[in-house]
Amino acid sequence: MWCSRTALRRLVLQEAPLAGFQRDMSSLPRVYVTRQIPPRGLQILRESGQVQFELWDSDDPVPRQELLKKVRGCDGLLCVLTEKIDAELLDAAGPNLKVLSTMSVGFDHLSLEELKKSHHVILWLCIGSRGIRVGYTPEVLTDAVAELTVALLLATSRRLIEATHEAKTGGWGTWRTLWLCGHELADSTVGILGLGRIGVAIAERLKPFKVKKFIYTDVAPRPELAEMIQAEYVSMDELARRSDFLAACCALTPETQGICNKNLFSKMKSTSIFINTSRGGVVNQEDLYEALSTGQIAGAGLDVTVPEPLPTNHPLFTLKNCVILPHIASASYTTRNAMSALAANNLLAGLRGEPMPKELQL
Ligand code: DGY
Repeated sequence: MWCSRTALRRLVLQEAPLAGFQRDMSSLPRVYVTRQIPPRGLQILRESGQVQFELWDSDDPVPRQELLKKVRGCDGLLCVLTEKIDAELLDAAGPNLKVLSTMSVGFDHLSLEELKKSHHVILWLCIGSRGIRVGYTPEVLTDAVAELTVALLLATSRRLIEATHEAKTGGWGTWRTLWLCGHELADSTVGILGLGRIGVAIAERLKPFKVKKFIYTDVAPRPELAEMIQAEYVSMDELARRSDFLAACCALTPETQGICNKNLFSKMKSTSIFINTSRGGVVNQEDLYEALSTGQIAGAGLDVTVPEPLPTNHPLFTLKNCVILPHIASASYTTRNAMSALAANNLLAGLRGEPMPKELQL
C-alpha cells in the first residue's frame, strides 16, 4: 500500500509540471535538433520543460534546404558534425538564434568567423541580443577516441585486417617465418602531432606496451600535459624523423589543413606507421597514397578522411597497408550518450543565459 501510494504521488509530481509545460509550450524557446541523437540528450531536453523542440528524426542528415527552413526563428540549434554552420545558415536562422550546441568535440564544421560576426552585427544593430554562444563536447569522448586510436594503431601495425582476410580466403598456408610480419610497439618512439587530452590518453594507453619514448609537436610546448606522459617537445621535422608511430591528434584549423603531406611523409622512416583519428583535412591524401604505395612509410590507419564517406573506388582502398575506418573513434554507447547529454545541457544552460558546462570561447 505504501509503495503504491508513493508511486502515485511520484506520478502526479511528474505530470504536474508537464501539464503546465504543455499549456505554455508556445512561449518556450524554440529549438531545432538536426539528428536523431542518442536517447540521453533527448530525455534531458524533454524533461527540462524549458524548450519546445523539433527533431529531424532520422539517422541520416537533414537535407540542407529543410534545415534552412527549420532553423528560421529558432532560439537554439543542436547539431552534429555533418551540418555546416555558415553565413547562409545563420542568416536563415535570423536574430533569435542565441545558442548553438554541437554534439562533437571538433568544430571545424562551424564558421567561427561568421558566428563572431553575427554577434557583432546584432550588437551593432542594438536589438538586445547576447550574440550566439557555442557549446561542444570535449572530454566525454577522450577515453573512447584514445581506445579506438590504439586499436587502429595495432590493427595497422600488426596487419590484422590483411591477416583475417588471408585466413578467410584461403591465403593461410603453412606457418611461414616472415609472413604477415608487422612492427611492434615495444622499444619504439611514438610521436603525437597536436598534444591535447586525447594525445595524452593515447600515450597513457600505449605506455604498457613498453614504448621507449613519447615525443610531440604543437604550436608551442605544452609542459603540463607533456609531463603526464614524459613526452619531449620536438620540431615537426624531428617528429617525422624519429617517430616509429606517428599519431595525428590535432584539431583541423587553417594552420593544420593538409599538414600531413609529402614534406612530412618523405622524412618518416620506411618502417613507420601513420595514424589519424582527428580530421581527414589534416592529411593530403594524394601525398599519403604516394607514401604508402612507394613504401616511403609502412602503413596508415585512418578513422577520418576527405570526403566522408570516402568513395569505395578511392585509391587508398586499394592499398593493403592502409586501414580505413568510417569515423567511429567516439562510437561507444556510453560515449555517444554522454556527448548527447552534454550537448543538451550546453544548449539548455546557454538558453538560460548561464555558463555552459562546455562552452567554446569565440
Ligand atoms: C568529434 O566529436 O568531433 C568526433 O570526431 C566524433 O565523435
